[in-house]
Amino acid sequence: MNQPGAFPTSVLNVVDHPLVAHKITLLRSVDTGPAEFRSLCQEVTLLIAYEALRDLPTTETTVTTPITDTVSQELAGLAPAVVGILRAGLVMVDAILTLVPQARVGHLGMYRDPETHQPVSYYNKLPINIDQREVLLVDPMLATGGSAVAAIDALVEAGCTRVRLLSILGCPEGVSAVHSAHPNVPITLAALDERLNDNAYIVPGLGDAGDRIYGTL
Ligand code: PRP
Ligand code: URA
Repeated sequence: MNQPGAFPTSVLNVVDHPLVAHKITLLRSVDTGPAEFRSLCQEVTLLIAYEALRDLPTTETTVTTPITDTVSQELAGLAPAVVGILRAGLVMVDAILTLVPQARVGHLGMYRDPETHQPVSYYNKLPINIDQREVLLVDPMLATGGSAVAAIDALVEAGCTRVRLLSILGCPEGVSAVHSAHPNVPITLAALDERLNDNAYIVPGLGDAGDRIYGTL
């Protein structure tokens, strides 16, 4: 784990791994088209989700192997929930479901107003009993943090107490915004970039994630 900047590991974990770094370089490139971009987002998500979910609670169970009975571990409680912020978060949800196939899926529809950069919410559909589940909120980009904060607000409103945020790229402004509003929500990133530009895009960044995933540039 690499720990750049002023954020303690309980707040921010930036996954430091050569495969993640290599894939982030490909994601940043203007020469990477939508099909490869989608695959790379899913591959990076798998690698960093492994770290983000490291603290999932487990419980002991007895399993019968072909040789004998043994005490082993399984995830405790109700199946976790993965909640994607539309549109771009959808690509990460698919990756998480290959890792945690029993996860329940929630969707929060949100887009940034082009002038104010504030999130506009247009959809909210969360799994039953989400308040009793471990929740992983996914969105590839943590820019101003407005969308993530609004999404976590909606999860808290639904009674969630154990929420983690997983993004591919973030910047200090977004991490600070989430941490100020929701200090108990740990953030896992594949890379922490320098800053936001005047249009609230991450620098150096990768551009508009939704447009690159869906080819709507
Ligand atoms: C992008 C991204 C985040 C948001 C991040 O979505 O997927 O949801 O911007 O920016 P913020 O941290 O400043 O809120 P966008 O608003 O472009 O919507 P889209 O996925 O529907 O294109
Ligand atoms: N949303 C994106 O997709 N990219 C950014 O750099 C900022 C917000």
